[in-house]
Amino acid sequence: MIYPIVVYGSPILRQVAKEIDADYPNLKSLISDMFDTMYKSDGMGLAAPQIGKSIRIFVVDATSLADEDPDLKDFKKAFINPKLQILGEETLVMNEGCLSLPKLREDVDRHNKVRITYYDEHWNYTEEEYEGLKARVIQHEYDHLDGILFVDRINPLRKKLLKGRLNDIAKLKVQVPYKTKVLK
Ligand code: NI
Repeated sequence: MIYPIVVYGSPILRQVAKEIDADYPNLKSLISDMFDTMYKSDGMGLAAPQIGKSIRIFVVDATSLADEDPDLKDFKKAFINPKLQILGEETLVMNEGCLSLPKLREDVDRHNKVRITYYDEHWNYTEEEYEGLKARVIQHEYDHLDGILFVDRINPLRKKLLKGRLNDIAKLKVQVPYKTKVLK
């Protein structure tokens, strides 16, 4: 099942999502739907609040970039109840987009290295360290679980300048090739 993507202006994107239990109903099909929805909208990551579920799950798949960066060849995963820890001081600026902020791309400063613990889709407890693009995707998706969007992490003046475009997104005036909705 493909879900519409919940966009900016929806209160659920501002909520702190809740952890789930291993017996969460239809967890396997939910995760598979999240992957399908992400592929349909050509995204590299998708968090459950973006499909209208305020729970702590996100999925990522950057394997399509493996030609340019072989390091990404197995970066397709589901993260359940993740806990994120920043490693080191190093930060990196990169251009980012978000399915919930259609057609907006901005430079975002993020930490270069993280450690993440989580349950995978088979409920195996996992601990991993990531850096570079993978760490960036993880931080972006993890933010969604805490009600944070990438525009919250840009220069406040720059964010002010984007106000009109953000309002347009909230009014569904920005057209994209995937289905979007505002969840009131
Ligand atoms: Ni996003």
